[in-house]
Amino acid sequence: MAGHFISFEGGEGAGKSTQVRLLAEALKAAGREVVATREPGGAPGAEAVRALLVEGEPDRWEPLTETLLHVAARHEHVRRTIGPALARDAWVISDRFADSTMAYQAYGLGVARTIVAELNRLAVGTVRPDLTLVLDIPVEKGLARASQRQGNETRYERMDRAFHVRLRAGFLDIAAREPDRCAVVPAGGEVEDVHTAIKQIVSRRLGVAL
Ligand code: TMP
Repeated sequence: MAGHFISFEGGEGAGKSTQVRLLAEALKAAGREVVATREPGGAPGAEAVRALLVEGEPDRWEPLTETLLHVAARHEHVRRTIGPALARDAWVISDRFADSTMAYQAYGLGVARTIVAELNRLAVGTVRPDLTLVLDIPVEKGLARASQRQGNETRYERMDRAFHVRLRAGFLDIAAREPDRCAVVPAGGEVEDVHTAIKQIVSRRLGVAL
């Protein structure tokens, strides 16, 4: 696959969606074809699964059931959206990918990391982000930002504080274990400053002038 694949990761309220949009615009302005997508979702079946996961009560699912649903949605996303886009040399930017299952369902909910790693491997095959940007924000600040959002996709932000603390530590641990793929971006500041930092990382690591 000749395209480039960038994933954005992080806890609640880190500003990923805004940063995905800004980076997509910057890459398009630099003449690249960009597919901006998200998880859970990014393909018709995966979007249908999304509602099952992000709405409703925090204890709606057994942790393993929830893991399987996320991974099932990811397989659809990889096979139907990400893989074909990379095959035609597009740049794919995904708002969350496999690391989210490791952070939320393993570090957060306690599913064994070996199980999540194996399920992710099954779901994604050889598709792997060239770069993963982990947007890091203190738990309280992120939850305060997330609570400002409209809509009923609130299932995860309503999980307890300790869950969110484990999640943040999980993302930082994932990034520390794979420094060649991951970069941690402090995301508590102004949108424009975070965007500038992201453009610098993308330019340096993936060799595109932004
Ligand atoms: P979003 O808030 O970034 O749109 O993502 C939807 C929610 O789904 C978010 O609270 C994180 C959660 N999630 C998981 O728990 N595991 C996963 O594998 C993914 C992709 C998302």
